Amino acid sequence: MDQNGKADALTVELLNEFDIYSDELAQHMPEVLAYARTQCPVIETASGYSVITRYDDVRRVLSDPGTFSSAWGVPRGKMEPPIVIDPPDHRDYRMFLNRFFSFKALEPNEERIRALANRAIDVWIGRGEVDFMREFADPYTASVLGNIILGDSDAAKWTGQLQTGMEHQGVAGDFDGVFSLAREVARRKLEEERTNPTRSDSIVKAIVEARVADRPLSQEEQEGTLVTLFLGGLDTTKATLTGIMLYIAQHPEAEERLRSVHWNDPALNEAIRILSPVPNFGRVCTRDVSVGGHQFSEGDKLLVNFWSANHDETAFANADEWDFDRDARGHVGFGYGIHRCIGTQLARLQIAIALQELFRRISSVRLSNPDISYSAGLSRYPRGVRLEFDSREGV
Ligand code: HEM
Repeated sequence: MDQNGKADALTVELLNEFDIYSDELAQHMPEVLAYARTQCPVIETASGYSVITRYDDVRRVLSDPGTFSSAWGVPRGKMEPPIVIDPPDHRDYRMFLNRFFSFKALEPNEERIRALANRAIDVWIGRGEVDFMREFADPYTASVLGNIILGDSDAAKWTGQLQTGMEHQGVAGDFDGVFSLAREVARRKLEEERTNPTRSDSIVKAIVEARVADRPLSQEEQEGTLVTLFLGGLDTTKATLTGIMLYIAQHPEAEERLRSVHWNDPALNEAIRILSPVPNFGRVCTRDVSVGGHQFSEGDKLLVNFWSANHDETAFANADEWDFDRDARGHVGFGYGIHRCIGTQLARLQIAIALQELFRRISSVRLSNPDISYSAGLSRYPRGVRLEFDSREGV
């Protein structure tokens, strides 16, 4: 954008398309959205949906699920329950799932999660350098989710394939392979529970026994719910961890601040706000309605841009700058309203434990590859984060 608020040709082109699977948009997203927020806060795209970019408009849409239904999902993406479920049924889903995701319910897993972080670190600590996402964030988040969501202590067998699928097909909006593999795993886990019911409470058991609108879930709904819980936590947490490590490598003073971060530390709110690893989700209008001065008709599709809302200067002063002392609680990085992320506390716990264990064992992280780019698709993360570090083992 120039001094007169005029956009260059590339910004205009990317804005008009606003294709969330475009690699070029991913590299230029901050400028494109900064321009949109001041000049055209509701972007009418050539792809047939409109993007809501301002904080107040985003919150308004998210707080009214009666008018803005979640049934659409995302462009080209096939979404599953509970993400695509509207009231009143949505409440029933959250009723049987919420109890597994409170901090109190998750706390007993803390030592197990810590052990999984250390197992991932063991592999590369002796080398003095690491491809952070591939060698830490990927295996760590997958093993934690495998343990907590599926009760599978050996999830690494199949999650690698899922992660490769998300990285290659998912970024381009081709989800068929990824979803069918995830469904296959979900089907197996649900079948095991049905034929050999476990006595102890578990997420898989709760899904098998759940009732929504006074009926059991169909096989498809059960599989979909398990897939959402698993895939919902996979790319998002790894994206956040990788984004935080990149920031620390570029701002060494932050290492001390984040070394012993607690799961409920305000610094994590700020990291989620800035990184907003889930940039967009879709809604569809159930009636004619106006948002941000723009008139929509029933059936119109909207992309709610969490990333843009979190970088809106009217909501957060110096919004593009990390400020760990800022009160960032109002951010919408985990969404807002009835669909607010069910995995919020799990994500925080995983991120906090990872930072504690990483900086107990390493220090002075440095970027060995300055050539960083960003992923397109449903989650946004920096690619190519290779780090060098000093080992603190034996210090
Ligand atoms: C830093 C990590 C994470 C971020 C940034 C994040 C972000 C989000 C966002 C923005 C939404 C709202 C979607 C909407 O309004 O349509 C959401 C919903 C959801 N997330 Fe997360 N998420 C994270 C981690 C997790 C984890 C670890 C899980 C695993 C349990 C998870 C499972 C879900 C589910 C099941 C929903 C749908 C909730 C509903 O529809 O009621 N997420 N997440």
